Amino acid sequence: LKLLESKAIRQPPKLAWILEKTRELGFHLASEELTGVLLRTLAASKPGGLLLELGTGTGVATSWILDGMDSEAVLTSIDTDAKVQEVARQALSADRRLTLVTGDALYFLKHQPAESYDFVFADAMPGKYEGLAEALAVVKPGGFYIIDDMLPQVHWPKDHASSVDALLADMARHPGFETTPLAWASGIVVAVRKH
Ligand SMILES: C[S@@+](CC[C@H](N)C(=O)[O-])C[C@H]1O[C@@H](n2cnc3c(N)ncnc32)[C@H](O)[C@@H]1O
Repeated sequence: LKLLESKAIRQPPKLAWILEKTRELGFHLASEELTGVLLRTLAASKPGGLLLELGTGTGVATSWILDGMDSEAVLTSIDTDAKVQEVARQALSADRRLTLVTGDALYFLKHQPAESYDFVFADAMPGKYEGLAEALAVVKPGGFYIIDDMLPQVHWPKDHASSVDALLADMARHPGFETTPLAWASGIVVAVRKH
């Protein structure tokens, strides 16, 4: 694709540093560039929005999401692993729109008001393969629920493909959401809560 070869994609300010630290740490679960670009665009559609990322990792997607948000929007990102999250903290915590939480995503979700977020990027097991209902419950009408890594990958454990199929089927038939699976980057699902 000429478009994607053109290197026309503008990078978020702190991304190069985050990617360098991510490599140094040997953290292999970071989001890809084309996932980031899509997240940035979707984040830009929520001026003044309340955004949530489950699974900060080293802050790769966090940096893309922040880059799309306007000055009034706020993002909370949560991870259980303080060591990887420390990279995001060093790179991004000066941005007052961002709150980094070290803790369990499912516990966090259970303590959020219903239909309170405009955008949820669920990039950890909780909120996706467990606690799907809890993650969907916090999405506002018109808000996004986004997941990636839906296309087959060589390092998947043997039973993971069936979990992915079950998740895709759950989303496709969910009466409260309009869902589009995209063969983009690692395989993305974009769902929007219906009014
Ligand atoms: C796929 S990685 C996140 C990648 C990151 N969003 C990015 O764009 O680079 C998944 C992350 O989920 C975190 N995680 C695992 N279990 C969790 C839990 N119960 N609650 C919150 N985060 C969790 C892992 O520590 C890991 O950093």
